[in-house]
Amino acid sequence: MEPTNKNYNRYKNYVFRRQTTAEQIDALQSFEVRDSDVYLITYPKSGTIWTQQILISIFSMGGDVDESKNNLFQMPWLEYMKDEFDYTKRPSPRLFTSHLTPILMPPGVKDKKPKVIYVMRNPKDNVVSYYHFTKGCSTLPDTGDFSEYLEDYLKGDVIGSSWFDHIKAWYTQKDQYDILFLNYEDMVLDLKGEVVKICNFLGKNLSEADIQNVVEKAVFKSMKTDSKANYEFLEKRNISVTFMRKGQIGDWKNTLTVNQSERIDQLIKEKLGDLPLKFIYE
Ligand code: A3P
Repeated sequence: MEPTNKNYNRYKNYVFRRQTTAEQIDALQSFEVRDSDVYLITYPKSGTIWTQQILISIFSMGGDVDESKNNLFQMPWLEYMKDEFDYTKRPSPRLFTSHLTPILMPPGVKDKKPKVIYVMRNPKDNVVSYYHFTKGCSTLPDTGDFSEYLEDYLKGDVIGSSWFDHIKAWYTQKDQYDILFLNYEDMVLDLKGEVVKICNFLGKNLSEADIQNVVEKAVFKSMKTDSKANYEFLEKRNISVTFMRKGQIGDWKNTLTVNQSERIDQLIKEKLGDLPLKFIYE
């Protein structure tokens, strides 16, 4: 691991939090994937915890997950492995979460073709969300003001590296995976429609009442007060922010200047212009 300018750790061209070690990441290369696993992949602040809640609810309908445990236990992060999560002994289907790029993933995710769900969010709301989150974590480097933070974000000197590179890597390699791409904004605009899409992808045939139940547990209002889902169980010593901040499309307009917004538009053209991706900003 090499320290970055902002005092994160860089390894294999990807930026991690300081606590992550090369050994932890290398160990993923021999991680035994099962074809029944499900992997949720996101760039940070793209609706990870929201989609976790949806997946856990869907799988709890069939009794596949233990609803008494919190979401971090039910659907742990690959890159933050802990013995207490006991991955190898878990019965199938196992659910995992990750912010990693394809090259750092266990090779079995390509070979065994487990289901992968990738959620993306427009970069303007993403950077504002990330700024507030980073500012509230005393274990993360000081953000400075928003314009300073934006420079770090655009350079990829934040955990997860560059938003542009993350999306590009997963999208251009999609044919090697059994993968469903979702947009945070579509989930805001039509949560039920996106839940049905996820069920279809997973081959889950839920009743109308069960689908409604999944939706009700996943709306912002419910998650804000659901202690298993909102990560309030994490140690509060270092995090004064909530994972459930505003949950809206278009909050970026309260923060980004016209210039900053146009700069992001330009970078999308340069870096992702040849991909058929469309982002919703309001
Ligand atoms: P904001 O900071 O813009 O409010 P992640 O889980 O990847 O860290 O993403 C966090 C973002 O997802 C936060 O965005 C959070 O409010 C939003 N989010 C979480 N649950 C949500 C929900 N049920 N509906 C809408 N947005 C949600």
